[in-house]
Amino acid sequence: MNNRKLRYGLIGAGSNAERKHLNNYMNLPNIELVSICDVNIENANRLADKYKIEKVYSNYKDMLNAEDLDLVSVCTPNYLHAEISIYALLKGVNVHCEKPLAINAIEAKRIVEAKNKSGKMVMLGLNNRFTNEAVYLKKYIDAGYLGEIYQAKAGWIRRSGIPGRGTWFTNKEYAGGGVMIDLGVHYLDLAMYLMGMPEPSYVTGATYNNFDQTTTRNRNGYKGNPNGIFNVEDSAMGFIGLKNGATVNFEFSWASNIEKDKQYVEILGTKGGVSLINGELKIHSELLDTCVDISPILNPNIKLMNEFEHFTNSILSGDPLMAPVEHGVYMMNIIDQFYQAASINEPVFFEKDKNNILRLSSSF
Ligand SMILES: NC(=O)c1ccc[n+]([C@@H]2O[C@H](COP(=O)([O-])OP(=O)(O)OC[C@H]3O[C@@H](n4cnc5c(N)ncnc54)[C@H](O)[C@@H]3O)[C@@H](O)[C@H]2O)c1
Repeated sequence: MNNRKLRYGLIGAGSNAERKHLNNYMNLPNIELVSICDVNIENANRLADKYKIEKVYSNYKDMLNAEDLDLVSVCTPNYLHAEISIYALLKGVNVHCEKPLAINAIEAKRIVEAKNKSGKMVMLGLNNRFTNEAVYLKKYIDAGYLGEIYQAKAGWIRRSGIPGRGTWFTNKEYAGGGVMIDLGVHYLDLAMYLMGMPEPSYVTGATYNNFDQTTTRNRNGYKGNPNGIFNVEDSAMGFIGLKNGATVNFEFSWASNIEKDKQYVEILGTKGGVSLINGELKIHSELLDTCVDISPILNPNIKLMNEFEHFTNSILSGDPLMAPVEHGVYMMNIIDQFYQAASINEPVFFEKDKNNILRLSSSF
């Protein structure tokens, strides 16, 4: 393994950039924090001071042109993920792109094209794949303990969790969609990833926008803008039929009249099932003709996989990524087709293009 230090830059100095990316990259011995960029220069300066980053920019192109970087985190609003990632890749820079990969599958595929052209890597910020529970579950499922998998359920439902009513998150132009593209990309992704990214046959579902006028359902700590736009869904639920005969049902909401928030994935197989509900991992099976539940005890002090270390090591070693960009295209295809199905109130079937890549149906 090559042990040189990688030169790191951050684009989009908002809340996720600090909480997730800087707080983790700063601790890696083979990362040098070189530069930071935000159109809001105050945001960039604040984090530059706090994390002792010398170079500050308000334009990402200026930063990528001036600095000789090895990798950047892209933590801007969703509509900029494709534009910025492509620019960085074509400058020879590896990209750690926040979810969702892009605002639709067409843009997502453009990122893959740029990645292939550049020979660089793009990893998705799918942190829910990197929890100890998810890493353990993936190993357990891949080892065949569930038998034949026939059903998955995934959801993330909040009572009051709009990430700022009237901010870019609730504006279709900037976010690409609502809760489906915000939380669905995490937990539907986790279900599909655990099942081995099976090929979908059709998707059907519905979206609702019932809380667009409310000012009382913002997520704790997130400020809304009373005059801002809210033209995306606050709830999304649906059903996916897979080519192998298995099925997936899902539900996501930023706001809903439920008792408690819930974040979950459940995978059911002929020999066993697993559930990860609000962080609690359980295995459900049968022993000596009796149903049993097993609770794996994962040591919280031992991190099985670290998203940031993993990306850094893969850049240095060329080892495959756990959240490669192609998985983002897969998910954006499903989300595009889901939105289409919800808008026409009918199931939508998937088609493949000549490269065997799922694409938008011709009717879209
Ligand atoms: N993986 C996760 O768990 C997770 C959690 C939260 C957010 N996110 C994702 O991270 C991204 C950012 O979310 P956030 O909550 O930090 O949003 P935010 O609004 O707090 O931050 C976005 C930042 O991008 C900056 N920006 C806008 N246009 C820019 C441009 N052209 N160049 C440089 N900077 C620009 C804004 O000024 C702002 O500082 C989103 O894609 C979101 O989906 C992921």
